Amino acid sequence: MRGMTNLTWNDLPGHPTRWWGIPVLAAMRRDYLAVVSAQRPLGDLVRQQILGERAVDIFDPELLRAVMVDHADALVRWARGPEVFAELMGQSVLVTEGATWQRQRRMLMQAFTPRRVAGYAALMTEAATAGLAGVLNDQGSGEVAMDALFSHLTMDVISRTLFSTPIGSDTAAAAHAVQVLSETALAEMFWPFTLPDWLPLPGKAAKRRAGRLLHGLLGSHIDARRASAGDAADTRPDLLGMLMALRDEATDEALSPQEVYDQCMVSFQAGHETSATALLWWSWLLAVHPEAQARARAEVDAALAGRGPGADDLAALPFLGATLKEAMRLYPPVAALLTRRLTREITVGGVRLPARTLVRVTPWLLHRDPRWWPDEPLAFKPERFLPASAGQVVHEIPRGAYIPFGLGPRVCLGQHFAVLEMTLIAALVLQRFELAPAGAEAPRPRMAVTLRPEGGLRLRLSRRLK
Ligand code: HEM
Repeated sequence: MRGMTNLTWNDLPGHPTRWWGIPVLAAMRRDYLAVVSAQRPLGDLVRQQILGERAVDIFDPELLRAVMVDHADALVRWARGPEVFAELMGQSVLVTEGATWQRQRRMLMQAFTPRRVAGYAALMTEAATAGLAGVLNDQGSGEVAMDALFSHLTMDVISRTLFSTPIGSDTAAAAHAVQVLSETALAEMFWPFTLPDWLPLPGKAAKRRAGRLLHGLLGSHIDARRASAGDAADTRPDLLGMLMALRDEATDEALSPQEVYDQCMVSFQAGHETSATALLWWSWLLAVHPEAQARARAEVDAALAGRGPGADDLAALPFLGATLKEAMRLYPPVAALLTRRLTREITVGGVRLPARTLVRVTPWLLHRDPRWWPDEPLAFKPERFLPASAGQVVHEIPRGAYIPFGLGPRVCLGQHFAVLEMTLIAALVLQRFELAPAGAEAPRPRMAVTLRPEGGLRLRLSRRLK
């Protein structure tokens, strides 16, 4: 592919499409990963046309970096994506473009540096400790719905880090609201002719209810904080306090009240389901790989000797960190749909892609490609993320082949937050419980906005003897 010259989008391989691509759209809605997986055998740059829209899938890490990093200034997020998500997330950093995005990103980065994020570790550990205390109640062992557990934990983590307050009894309703909103957003994204929101269809009513619930929840916290602003006692070191105090280095301006609200909403959404999903797959992988589980637990026991984990402990937990990385390789929470639209023509791998082309990035396929992962690509092997020990042959991971947090200037803003949160929760889980599968069947991954196990995930947990 890289040897080609003077080719255009029309020359790229692609499956023929019928009926303007409408059947493909319907198939995507049913199973997006199956559709994009069928593109992969055709090459590393593969075209598809839907309703007159030109799309290209990129399956080679080097070509991917050429587009997402080198040509970042020629990209905007897929126009329809922001349109759908803007409804949920307002004008937050996730959906804005151009100068507004640059300003927001520049300001928000200050709240998400590794040093800043380390300051939230105690709030994270508090949330997880409280959430895990209720698991199994007084029983020694039993089946636990892990999706509900991790949704609750990560929701409470984001609530405490944002507002310094546990989410309390609102959790289940709020978690459900986020789920409903994400699922309907995804369905709408694939279906360009969405029906107006006021139509009394069941999905729409659920969506309106979910939206109201989340808006009410966030609104009440923010109003309370504004009311106590200036109160010397109220200088809480949480994310909301940080957002309200942020100043643009260039202009000394603060975020507007609407922007503060929108960024809270996006942290709630982007920062909850993604981490919960990663932990979910991680827990299942450890349940079915007892030797890796035992090794991770031994590491935790040795490093912490029974006390709770903190940000400084991450360096002493390399194997635990590797199990989380490997879980996100096999089951990237954002498995697909990192889509961009070209604002001008660019040339990639000798192929000219015209302005308006949609570029589609699929971590799911990059993470499982035997060319970049020659050592049993479908096997759970956390060791691939450890430094090589003497005499060991390890395959270097090509840049751009492992992208659970995306790549280029729009890489995940909450990456350090997520890694810290997941490692703390994982350590606390292993300190308390042994994990085993509840049934013989492996859960089937299904794309909602994140990659969820179809029908949920139950595991058998046994309390460890003190
Ligand atoms: C395991 C957990 C997480 C994963 C796998 C994840 C993944 C991603 C990915 C792949 C992107 C890039 C999307 C694109 O390029 O189109 C992204 C962007 C983003 N993430 Fe995360 N994320 C996680 C956790 C978080 C957390 C905890 C927060 C905040 C508290 C967060 C906030 C954001 C924001 C604001 C963006 C948009 C950045 C921009 O457009 O400039 N994420 N995330």
